[in-house]
Amino acid sequence: MPHFQGDEAKRYDSNIIKLVPGYELLHQLTAAQLVTLLPDESTILVIGAGTGKDIIELAQHNDSWHFVAQDISCDMLNIAKLQLAHHGLASRVTFHYGALSVLDTPVDAAICLLVMHFLPDTGEKHALLKSIHRNLQPKAPLFLADLVSPETQFERESQLLMCRSLGLTEVGEQRMRHNLNHEFYPLERMRLAELLDQAAFSSANCYFKALGFSGFACRAL
Ligand SMILES: C[S@@+](CC[C@H](N)C(=O)[O-])C[C@H]1O[C@@H](n2cnc3c(N)ncnc32)[C@H](O)[C@@H]1O
Repeated sequence: MPHFQGDEAKRYDSNIIKLVPGYELLHQLTAAQLVTLLPDESTILVIGAGTGKDIIELAQHNDSWHFVAQDISCDMLNIAKLQLAHHGLASRVTFHYGALSVLDTPVDAAICLLVMHFLPDTGEKHALLKSIHRNLQPKAPLFLADLVSPETQFERESQLLMCRSLGLTEVGEQRMRHNLNHEFYPLERMRLAELLDQAAFSSANCYFKALGFSGFACRAL
């Protein structure tokens, strides 16, 4: 998987919008649903918070929400700290650098955008979902978004073409082509349903679909 360290972390914000068609919309749609679902003073766990984009989008919708920003990349979280401070949000965020498995903070909702697809389906995805569940209040919502298995034979090619339109260079396209085949662990829809069920989540509704990337909403049971 990409390491999200050093230059990779520094270039993340300018690169990701060329790699994930609809990146901005995914965050906006996730926020719109949380606004509908959550009352004031809610705490939202952001798994794989990266450079802070998820929180910057969510925080502008409700001044009273608090966030727990978790990530396994210190460099990504350091950039998030700077960006969140720049937006005047530092006091509303608790940072957790390291594995989610050691976190024990009851929260009202969780989002995990563009993270789980980096984990192989050999226990790691299940463990992450169980850790998320352990931190959620009963019935709390979870929003997940990942690269999923292609639904047509031409979907991945179309995705790469779209990335070029978004500004990805030829070299970047070659790297992404390699990564799509070797660095991601996309799930079939049925397998995702199974994993969610095993981790005690409700069945998921698809709320976002842009070629290979899908977003799902479910609840802790
Ligand atoms: C593609 S970025 C997504 C960042 C952010 N959610 C966004 O939408 O821009 C993936 C992030 O997940 C983090 N990550 C990868 N595996 C993780 C894990 N097991 N637990 C938490 N974070 C993880 C990476 O360090 C990176 O910051």
